Amino acid sequence: MACCKRVIPQNAARMFSRPAPILKKSRVQELLIQGKNRTCLEIGAGCLRNSLFLLGEGFKITAVDLPGIEERFPKQYRRFSKGGGRVLLGKLPKNEKFGFAVCTFVIETICEPAKRLRLLKNVAGSLSRDGFLILSARGPADVVTAYADGIKCSDGFLTPQRTFVRSYDRPQAYSSIALGWIFTDRIAAQAWNQKA
Ligand SMILES: C[S@@+](CC[C@H](N)C(=O)[O-])C[C@H]1O[C@@H](n2cnc3c(N)ncnc32)[C@H](O)[C@@H]1O
Repeated sequence: MACCKRVIPQNAARMFSRPAPILKKSRVQELLIQGKNRTCLEIGAGCLRNSLFLLGEGFKITAVDLPGIEERFPKQYRRFSKGGGRVLLGKLPKNEKFGFAVCTFVIETICEPAKRLRLLKNVAGSLSRDGFLILSARGPADVVTAYADGIKCSDGFLTPQRTFVRSYDRPQAYSSIALGWIFTDRIAAQAWNQKA
């Protein structure tokens, strides 16, 4: 899609000192406690707020984002690497399985729907058989108000910061993701048989 070429995905990342709210949900906290020895893959790690939190909780973590992101948050990337975290830019690890994956506020910033799906399918392929994905995406209320001035593109909007955004309500998220256990901000649901 031509309009998607204008997007600079890394611009969507902002500095946060706290992990995404989903990581504090009681169901997710339970999973993290039960999964103490699991390895973790974070996709679209941005300023590393989740990866640094999980590293601090003792997880072995690999953070994936796009090239150039570490220049936006140099202190955080240095601290993460020094603490034993692994960073991969522009690619997912090959031939490696993870106990769980975290992806917060990423899929709705990817302009091409096919790219979103490909990313999620690759993430699914990087999970162990009983692996799970912790996923957050912005809901309709977040996006309509914040981006009322956006320019229509793909199935969402371009913003003045050259980012893309669309919202996902719960059924949309489930019907576009065919991944196994998905934990969203509000619920945990099994979606193995959803169509892509
Ligand atoms: C809105 S930010 C969210 C960052 C972080 N997850 C958070 O919650 O603060 C979206 C992030 O996804 C990254 N991203 C977009 N497309 C990606 C892709 N195909 N692979 C890896 N990262 C991607 C962007 O570079 C950006 O850092």
